[in-house]
Amino acid sequence: MKKILFVASECLPFVKTGGLADVVGSLPQCLDKENYDCRVIMPLYSFMAQKWKDMLEYKTHFYMDFNWNSYYVGIMECEYEGIKYYFIDNQDYFTCDKPYAGMPYDIGRFAFFSKAALSILPSIDFRPDLIHCHDWQTGLIPVYLNDSFQANEFYRGIKTVMTIHNLKFQGVWDIRTMKDIVGLPDYYFTPDKLEFNRDANMLKGGLVYCDAITTVSDTYAEEIKIPYYGEGLDGLMRARQHDLRGIVNGIDYHMWNPETDKLIYKNYSVENFRKEKVKNKTALQADIGLDVDPKAMLIGIVSRLTDQKGFDLIAYVMDEMCQDAVQFVILGTGEERYENMFRHFAWKYGGRVSAQIYYNEALSHKIYAASDAFLMPSQFEPCGLSQLISLRYGSLPIVRETGGLKDTVQPYNEYESTGTGFSFVNYNAHEMMGTVRYAEKVFYDNKREWNKMVERAMNKDFSWESSALKYQELYDWLIG
Ligand code: ADP
Ligand code: GLC
Repeated sequence: MKKILFVASECLPFVKTGGLADVVGSLPQCLDKENYDCRVIMPLYSFMAQKWKDMLEYKTHFYMDFNWNSYYVGIMECEYEGIKYYFIDNQDYFTCDKPYAGMPYDIGRFAFFSKAALSILPSIDFRPDLIHCHDWQTGLIPVYLNDSFQANEFYRGIKTVMTIHNLKFQGVWDIRTMKDIVGLPDYYFTPDKLEFNRDANMLKGGLVYCDAITTVSDTYAEEIKIPYYGEGLDGLMRARQHDLRGIVNGIDYHMWNPETDKLIYKNYSVENFRKEKVKNKTALQADIGLDVDPKAMLIGIVSRLTDQKGFDLIAYVMDEMCQDAVQFVILGTGEERYENMFRHFAWKYGGRVSAQIYYNEALSHKIYAASDAFLMPSQFEPCGLSQLISLRYGSLPIVRETGGLKDTVQPYNEYESTGTGFSFVNYNAHEMMGTVRYAEKVFYDNKREWNKMVERAMNKDFSWESSALKYQELYDWLIG
């Protein structure tokens, strides 16, 4: 039995802000349970829903030296759908109303988390063969492991994998403060290790010291080797290219299934979507204040509202797009400028644009089921899960050809009658609008072709199965 430990800052069903939680929540479930004992460590955030807190059992606690102090490290645990989860409890660091508090607070919180995650292993009697770290919040794990933990035989020989879900966030702060907080010697703060443009970079530490690097699509694995996508780390990515591979994310096919989904208005399948899917549209239109019109093309957006997702393009041409016979529904939270932009358009085009500015799981399901198309014109996209969910629900993705969007959405080819969505290449608002208008044309003038495309989209398989095998191969190769 191989022992794998996941460490991450969010994980479904407990806490989620984005796709990271989906991945950390579903991948351990999809590994072969006969051969891999996979467990997960995450922080015990005070805002976590009570129903999950009620499931936890106290295991033990101890005190850990960190940032010139001795800190309480509590361990709570639970088993959920066959997987063991451990929660690190410390009220100084994890009393909050969302997982990320901003810099510099997050430096201390996640450095503490990373050190604690390693420190609890003897107490939970779990010596992993491999630790799978996710994003910058866990970047210091390979570094700590290489450092003081080597003195203890228990830790020697543990392998590490670092998965990049988003290279934009790296955990960067000035060297002096960082060194003070994280308690690593000077040795680590040089340009070949944690130093980064004269600052210190936690993700970089992880990427230097881990045994293998993965990211969440093939295309993104290539893109981050060039400056445009490399966020200043493209040189390191090139240097470690033989240890870097892309493994595309899947989605949880039980949770996201239009045939059985209890959160949508009307279930449907690839056999009956032509008649049934539209009932989701009219019910949603009525619920969120759009004109009820089964024939109107409804374009959905479910997203964190950040510039990564291409909202500047939408801002630029939204007025023009609203001259067409289309409706938009937006569900998302994030940067205020985008929240207000969508509120503004909803006010201006009442009945045709609906802005739902909050986080809501149930409404997201309804939107995927109700929309005819799903717009995701990202500036960069390591993988993207929303377009995978859209495909599954027969809401055709309109995407920019970058990262995982390029790898998972096959553009419509009207001559060969192939494809599962629409795409454009350049980060350019008019190119995006041209593509949206092309989709409108197919939707209104060639419904038969549209429906064939929906059928192809719904028949695609983006479950975890094949990607989980690739992770297993990687684990086997590293553990030997
Ligand atoms: P990212 O991780 O960059 O945010 P992904 O496409 O990988 O993007 O994953 C986003 C996930 O978060 C999807 O499951 C999407 O449905 C969900 N999501 C984003 N915003 C909201 C929201 N406001 N309400 C509900 N779900 C949301
Ligand atoms: C990040 C990326 C997204 C990816 C997700 C899960 O949040 O922005 O593209 O799908 O992580 O890997």
